[in-house]
Amino acid sequence: MEFSIKSGSPEKQRTACVVVGIFESRKLSIAAEQIDRASNGYLGDIMRRGDMDGKLGRTLLLHNVPNTLGDRILLVGLGRERDFSTKSYRKAIGAAIQALHDTGTADATFYLTELPLKKQSTAWKIEQAVIGMFENLYRFDECKSTAEKSRRALKRITLSVPRRNELEMGEAALKRGIAIGRACQLARDLGNRPGNICTPTHLAETAQNLARMLPLKATILERTDMEALKMGALLSVARGSRQDPKLIILEYQGSSSQNKPIVLVGKGVTFDSGGISLKPGEAMDEMKFDMCGAAAVLGTLQAVAELELPLNVIGVIPATENLPDGQASKPGDIVTSLSGKTIEILNTDAEGRLILCDALSYSARFMPDTIIDLATLTGACVIALGHVASALYSNNDALSKELGQAAEAALDPVWPMPLWEEYQEQLKSNFADMANIGGRPAGSVTAACFLSRFTEEMNWAHLDIAGTAWKSGAQKGATGRPVPLLMEFILRRAAEHRDAH
Ligand code: BES
Ligand code: MN
Ligand code: ZN
Repeated sequence: MEFSIKSGSPEKQRTACVVVGIFESRKLSIAAEQIDRASNGYLGDIMRRGDMDGKLGRTLLLHNVPNTLGDRILLVGLGRERDFSTKSYRKAIGAAIQALHDTGTADATFYLTELPLKKQSTAWKIEQAVIGMFENLYRFDECKSTAEKSRRALKRITLSVPRRNELEMGEAALKRGIAIGRACQLARDLGNRPGNICTPTHLAETAQNLARMLPLKATILERTDMEALKMGALLSVARGSRQDPKLIILEYQGSSSQNKPIVLVGKGVTFDSGGISLKPGEAMDEMKFDMCGAAAVLGTLQAVAELELPLNVIGVIPATENLPDGQASKPGDIVTSLSGKTIEILNTDAEGRLILCDALSYSARFMPDTIIDLATLTGACVIALGHVASALYSNNDALSKELGQAAEAALDPVWPMPLWEEYQEQLKSNFADMANIGGRPAGSVTAACFLSRFTEEMNWAHLDIAGTAWKSGAQKGATGRPVPLLMEFILRRAAEHRDAH
């Protein structure tokens, strides 16, 4: 797909399709009004006849509109004008892309980017439009022997800005949108790949390929390296697998090495059967998505390196399978983590925290300014927040607030959860420093409490993305979340950094 930015009147665009918005109760957007005037009230007539009511997400394709230079005009319903929000904006973009895709139009010029939105800049609208386009055009068919081909795929999209002096800023926003869109695409591809293809080795090779193409450094620690480091918790999960575990480190240095990095740690369980505490069979296939935290780290580092952002970011990914076997860890086994703390494994299905605690302890060596882990950690998180918000935990209120604001701007919501002392008690063990489970009540909270014991000296946040990283049912597939949130967070940090210099 080719994207470009342009400024000019909608009726004068020589393009296969001009995309303009219509509000409910026959209220035209500014671009639609311009077309209506040029065509002597053509759009107004259509709306009076009731062919387009302007309901959010409705579309109507028009041909041969008088006095316009484009081949077609696509009307997109925006809902009621006073309810028009960032969410409706994204929905309208999605509906428009879907309609264009269905007609097989090769190129289109979007005027939706000129719609007024309270508190949102043109740059935000362009960035979000591009991310939304990537999201809606995404298909995963690499495992189908014959891929569905659309009749004539969309090739060129032009996004309009209201004023000529906004072109340069528009180009920059476009570049960010493309990098984020591609990052989500990578994260989704990795998530959607089955466990027999997307192994720990596959994740490591993906990191190495990124390092070949971009200014990134990849380091892969093997089982023997982990043994030498004494990563007993991570190794205990890998015991039941015939696939070699990997600890993947991907480093981006965009500013002086004096500047402390943002470290992103992603859970990379490429298949979670539960181990000896075997999961029930229903929907177990979805446990191939248990590496979506790792996928988000790889996608985010790709985008950060593509954009050459002026800060330092490091990705750390503990990658392994969790399978039952004669060698596998058993309930009651006690292991010593890299930190020296001992853990009684009461349930081998609580493996995410075991691999993360060693990855977090390891990450302390990078002296992170901020460390954020991303993990499809608990089914309890899905019960608490469903598929809407990721759970946000942090030992630093300012960081929690910063992530909450980035999440809102990125339309990738999070919701704050407590890390109170009272919950820590549930992790007591009679035989080791702690147990790896805290019982059924507040399962997402006690998992976060477990991790908090390994991050006490760092500015740390944990995102439980169990409900948001993929969709089940007819739409089954990885979402790419929380890449949009992470990128927004990092871009804001990068902008601050630029302002400070
Ligand atoms: N990967 C799962 C969490 C999960 C389960 C995410 C279902 C999305 C849907 C994790 O490793 C796990 O199995 N957690 C257990 C923890 C329990 C044993 C304390 C869970 O949530 O059941
Ligand atoms: Mn598990
Ligand atoms: Zn898991």
